[in-house]
Amino acid sequence: MTEEQKTNEFEERIQRGEKIEPGDWMPEKYRKQLIRMISQHAHSEVIGMLPEGKWIPHAPSLRRKMILIAKVQDEAGHGQYLYHAAETLGATREELYQAFLDGRAKYSSIFNYPSMSWADVGMIGWLVDGAAIKNQTMLAQCSYGPYSRAMVRICAEETFHHKQGKEMVLKYAAGTPKQREMVQDALNRYWWPSLMMLGPHDSESTNTPQLVKWGVKTKTNDEVRQEFIAETAPELIASGLSIPDPDLHEDENGVWHHGPIDWDEFWNVVKGNGPCNAERLGMRQAAHDNGEWVRDALEAYSEKKYGAKAFV
Ligand code: 3HC
Repeated sequence: MTEEQKTNEFEERIQRGEKIEPGDWMPEKYRKQLIRMISQHAHSEVIGMLPEGKWIPHAPSLRRKMILIAKVQDEAGHGQYLYHAAETLGATREELYQAFLDGRAKYSSIFNYPSMSWADVGMIGWLVDGAAIKNQTMLAQCSYGPYSRAMVRICAEETFHHKQGKEMVLKYAAGTPKQREMVQDALNRYWWPSLMMLGPHDSESTNTPQLVKWGVKTKTNDEVRQEFIAETAPELIASGLSIPDPDLHEDENGVWHHGPIDWDEFWNVVKGNGPCNAERLGMRQAAHDNGEWVRDALEAYSEKKYGAKAFV
């Protein structure tokens, strides 16, 4: 069969709703797109541990500390699932991770913003994990089997992350004036970056047409953003907090309209000039360097015991 015939057959399979599995034929562009998306998703999970991990020692109660430890631990596990999913496409974890550390691979813009108070932990849970759930629920329908199955598992855990964040924010919004002030400040700083994390407007989304055609995305960035706003805005307003967008409103058809998103800020953060980019990557590089002895020990053990390298 010619490349064109194989591609047609591949696209017919996707039209029929079949899952593409690791051993199946797939266009090279499909494979490359998935490695790009899945690895950047994995990098996001790993770096996403940092903004909240910093607050574990400062949790106001043992209960909050236990919840936050569990959440941060979950994110590490999400990173593992996703690196495994990327490896089924022929990529090696080493090359993916090095691209991340070198700044050649992206990770979610949202994690380049500082977590400045304990209330940020709640707001990250409600907004960031809430936006991630909208995106990941969509990706659970993805045409690539390993990715869609990883999403099903990850979404289940994200739901707990989202609920604990919402519970915290609602408690503080109804709490002391100081608690209210802290959680409103967190909303002021996290609202717009949470809208941005779902990707540029469809008109600027260079990858979406291909990804939708091949069933990797079943919704566009703007459609997922609209879902996120439609769910989150009414609940935030009902909590008595004010969303930092005077233009935000729902029209008679239930469509939410928001003010202009600062895409210059977004691209600046994506390009590495956000408030925390250098700090975040620096911490990941230091952790990687400090863990070298563990990788060397595993390598030595694997070669001695099995006569084969541990990291192929
Ligand atoms: N941060 C950084 N880069 C972004 C971005 C963001 N929020 N949104 C888009 N970009 C980049 C894209 O990677 C692309 O660059 P590339 O071609 O060099 O990779 C460029 O901007 C153009 O954007 P597109 O819309 O064309 O890119 P996509 O079609 O890939 O859509 C996406 C962007 C919606 C983020 C999509 O990649 C996606 O769904 N990724 C998987 C989910 C994911 O990565 N989520 C990150 C958050 S994980 C998380 O929140 C963890 C949770 O536990 C809290």
